[in-house]
Amino acid sequence: MELIHQGKVRDLYRLDDQRLLIVATDRLSAYDVVFPDPIPGKGIVLTALTRWWLNRIEAIVPSHGAPDLDAELASLSVSKWPDLADRGMVVECCQVIPYECVVRGYAFGSYLKDHPDVAPMTRFETPVFTPSTKASKGHDEPVSFEAMRADIGEVADALRALSLSLFNFATEVCSRAGITLVDTKFEFGYGQDGQIKLVDECFTPDSSRFILATDVEQGIYDSFDKQIIRDYVDQIGWDRRPPAPRLPPEIISKTLERYRSIQQRIMETL
Ligand SMILES: Nc1ncnc2c1ncn2[C@@H]1O[C@H](COP(=O)(O)OP(=O)(O)OP(=O)(O)O)[C@@H](O)[C@H]1O
Ligand SMILES: [Mg+2]
Repeated sequence: MELIHQGKVRDLYRLDDQRLLIVATDRLSAYDVVFPDPIPGKGIVLTALTRWWLNRIEAIVPSHGAPDLDAELASLSVSKWPDLADRGMVVECCQVIPYECVVRGYAFGSYLKDHPDVAPMTRFETPVFTPSTKASKGHDEPVSFEAMRADIGEVADALRALSLSLFNFATEVCSRAGITLVDTKFEFGYGQDGQIKLVDECFTPDSSRFILATDVEQGIYDSFDKQIIRDYVDQIGWDRRPPAPRLPPEIISKTLERYRSIQQRIMETL
């Protein structure tokens, strides 16, 4: 199989003109830099959650995944990944629209950096769409919706509407599991039939910020993602420029624990 792309987290293999094998590795990136130490098992969590959500959002937007495609996974093998069945997905090869479609229900993360006078976890009356460019190298930059629309045209309106619908749907689902969905990002592309498809990952802790609703009520903002890593590297004073520092084993195991616990909460409660 031909490895056609290595993203920060995923490896993409071409199966044929129409299909790709996406493998979620255990690589971790923070501040857009990939760390030398993987988080063993993280890719399995990402794939399980993406599959789970893709099956539930079909009524809102079709995705690059489909049960018949996924069934083919059993016939594939990649020597590097003995656990391919758990971390791989066979998907439709799409023409990716180069924007990260970010939706926020609350002000957190990079939003606070861009809006220093807004208090953390200020709830937006209705979720806001804050797209960013998908830089092929380096950092993704926030762009106005108007700039996105000037670049890609009316499809921007469709992507915004779909992103908001997906976010509202997941907000409701997560709230039933006692989880506050703070923000998330999506990628879309054109499928073989020219239709818009959701691609990449979906409501994973790499793409989304989840916080326990009971924590939010108490003003505790511990999210189920790589926040542990960000806190650690900030504490040791890393300048956020490559190379990323090595991670102590307890930081690695705590991070994996966080990823696994949000997976359980979502997939087992609902
Ligand atoms: N169905 C699909 N068809 C084509 N490309 C896809 C599909 N799903 C995901 N991708 C692409 O696969 C890559 C996934 O890799 P990953 O998420 O690790 O990359 P990234 O670090 O976020 O971004 P980059 O690709 O810019 O390095 C992304 O570039 C994404 O756009
Ligand atoms: Mg990505």
